[in-house]
Amino acid sequence: MTTILCDSIAADAWRTSLQWKAYDRIVVLTDTNVYREVFPVLDWLNEFPVFVIPAGENAKGLEQVERIYQKLHEFKCTRSSLLLCVGGGVVTDLGGFCASTYMRGIDVIHVPTTVLAMVDAAIGGKTGYNTAWGKNMIGTFHAPKAVWLYPDVLKTLDQREFYSGLAEAWKTAIMLDGALWIALRSNPLPNNWLHRTAAAKRDLVETDFKEKGVRAWLNFGHTIGHALEHFLLSNKQESLLHGEAIAWGMLLELNVVYSDIHPVFNELRDLVEKHIPAPKLQVEDIPAILERMQADKKNAHQKLVLAVPLGEGVGGQVVEVKVKVVEEILLRWINRWK
Ligand SMILES: NC(=O)c1ccc[n+]([C@@H]2O[C@H](COP(=O)([O-])OP(=O)(O)OC[C@H]3O[C@@H](n4cnc5c(N)ncnc54)[C@H](O)[C@@H]3O)[C@@H](O)[C@H]2O)c1
Repeated sequence: MTTILCDSIAADAWRTSLQWKAYDRIVVLTDTNVYREVFPVLDWLNEFPVFVIPAGENAKGLEQVERIYQKLHEFKCTRSSLLLCVGGGVVTDLGGFCASTYMRGIDVIHVPTTVLAMVDAAIGGKTGYNTAWGKNMIGTFHAPKAVWLYPDVLKTLDQREFYSGLAEAWKTAIMLDGALWIALRSNPLPNNWLHRTAAAKRDLVETDFKEKGVRAWLNFGHTIGHALEHFLLSNKQESLLHGEAIAWGMLLELNVVYSDIHPVFNELRDLVEKHIPAPKLQVEDIPAILERMQADKKNAHQKLVLAVPLGEGVGGQVVEVKVKVVEEILLRWINRWK
């Protein structure tokens, strides 16, 4: 698996290449917000047939998957066609899934338009959609041919979405690159931080595409984070964005495994408490959150496992934890968030 990560100049050059011309159809998938905000900036997109899905996490379900298959059929896509996914992680996850299954698989190129998708969702080939019983429960591994980064499109992204994405960059840096972690804490952010973070993820994923080993480190924050995100989405008026849920998930998971003695704990807590809204939860919500954690697809043999960093940028470990300890930590944080 080799995902070519291109800056805007290299991406523009790709579009004149022979490889590009070999596709019999090129179809674009996007969402309503991205169509409105990004298409005027990347005006070359308008030369292709476009299919627009509703914006937001609620669109990431089977209903949209079926609509996308139908459109690919109507646009007469074949196995020699290309799907170009232009959007945040919802579009790249859904589009990646449809590309991997339509006619047993067609090529996909991602043009991520959120920080989260640039540093994380568009990189690494995990695709999928949500079901009533959990996040990303149906999915495939399908590497994009390339990921094209156009940082200029982020100008229209709102602040909350920006920090949600930055949280996934903190995760990659804490796991893989201590110097990047220091750089990401600075204000303003350093030049080329998007490429550096995306490349760090790509390089790790290329050693373990199907997540049999080290790739699992990048699940840091996700066991608790996904449970919080999915519970809030299905039960509360105010939900958390994906990266926001992962940010809190990282802190709580560090707490579960290391109490508060891990070297990044205090710095991460300061960043998260400054930039990320706190989830609105009650003590009575704890059993339902624990239930979601226990249904997490990363668990094996009925054991609850968390991926946590060993130190600062030196990799991670996957550890088994007791439900009782997670329950105590959730209780502590719910009281702090009040
Ligand atoms: N496949 C993976 O490895 C992976 C990794 C992390 C997250 N994810 C998934 O990614 C999803 C979250 O992605 P996201 O945070 O990008 O959310 P998103 O795709 O919902 O985008 C966030 C919002 O920003 C809007 N938007 C996108 N680009 C914009 C722009 N340039 N200007 C203005 N508005 C813009 C979108 O319309 C949407 O309303 C989750 O479903 C998560 O599970 C997947």
